[in-house]
Amino acid sequence: MPSLSKRLGRVKPSSTMAMNAKVLEMQRQGVKVIGFAAGEPDFPTWWHVCESAHDSIRRGEFRYTAVGGTPELKQAIRTKLERDNGLVYSDAEVIASCGGKHSLYNAMQAILDEGDEVVIPGPYWVSYPDMAALSGGVAKIVPASEQNGFLLRPEELRAALTERTKLVILNSPSNPTGATYSEAQIAALGKVLAEHSCWVIVDDVYEFIRYDGVKPKHLVAMEPSLRERAIICNSVSKTYAMTGWRIGYTAGPAALVKAMTTLQSQSTSNPTSIAQAAAATALSGRQDEIEPMVAEFMKRRDYICDRVDAIPGLHVSKPGGAFYVFINGSGVFEKTKVSDGDGLALKLLEGARVGVVGGNDFGSKEHFRISYATSMENIELGMNNLENYLKGL
Ligand SMILES: Cc1ncc(COP(=O)(O)O)c(C=O)c1O
Repeated sequence: MPSLSKRLGRVKPSSTMAMNAKVLEMQRQGVKVIGFAAGEPDFPTWWHVCESAHDSIRRGEFRYTAVGGTPELKQAIRTKLERDNGLVYSDAEVIASCGGKHSLYNAMQAILDEGDEVVIPGPYWVSYPDMAALSGGVAKIVPASEQNGFLLRPEELRAALTERTKLVILNSPSNPTGATYSEAQIAALGKVLAEHSCWVIVDDVYEFIRYDGVKPKHLVAMEPSLRERAIICNSVSKTYAMTGWRIGYTAGPAALVKAMTTLQSQSTSNPTSIAQAAAATALSGRQDEIEPMVAEFMKRRDYICDRVDAIPGLHVSKPGGAFYVFINGSGVFEKTKVSDGDGLALKLLEGARVGVVGGNDFGSKEHFRISYATSMENIELGMNNLENYLKGL
């Protein structure tokens, strides 16, 4: 066989997806395993959103659309940005892509050159460093300490930025830690970023899944000087339980959006026409189904944190958002005969029949991640399994 690309040799497959695939395979073989790996809401997409997809089919919208999204979806994205974030963008400054992951990937492709440094607070979403690497970038991980709730302090950000920094990635609420910045904390990071000239990706995919009942002002609204180099990436996946529809979007300077559109025109073309219609409805229509979903997530978070607290050797700080708990498992490494979070995740899969994701690829070898985007019944069963297994050793 001729050789594969060297570029792809720099990246590894997503570990969250790999664990999820393992869980699904075991379940397919009839093994009763509780899946805590998948990062997607277990709620159905809202019915009126599904209806709008049916309508799109009835209208016969089966053709290519504009590469960067239909006029209706672009308008819905702009409506959302103004309504939720107080930000006014034009059509030329927004682009729809095939999921938030695609938005982030295309944005990095559009701005990074070989050797460019990308500052990523850790623990971080598994895909950031690999996406950066695929664009020639070099990830510079800046650890945010567990003692500080995994929140990066402004002075830590300042110390990490150099003239080599091309991009900083911020994600609040965070995957995997659930760390959620307050408005004051965002403003403080904004002040530091204003002193530098790098790009800033603001990954807002979990913006509505936060438990403090607060909707903080957006970084770009508080620090308008960042607007010409801020790249807001978001998607309908988490807020509207639409992971499978694959619609993400980006707002940023027109030149960046133009570059991303060119890249898209030579790779994927437009995102699926029918999914675009559904996403437009989700973004611009009524928003009343978000709150009950978040309330349910909060119940699950509280339940899991209480259960984890009762298991000797495990430690968790209650996350402020997203639907993950990032558990420090180093206190059970010895008795489970493992040396890191990935090892523990495998032990828990074999011994407790729960599929969690080890922390290694999130930037912490002491932790593992549980996604509570699954039913309360599953959570109870999974936590029973976990507790019985660890206490029985
Ligand atoms: C932090 C973060 N950003 C972006 C995404 C991308 O989501 P999607 O591609 O489904 O829109 C995810 C998905 O897990 C995520 O956790």
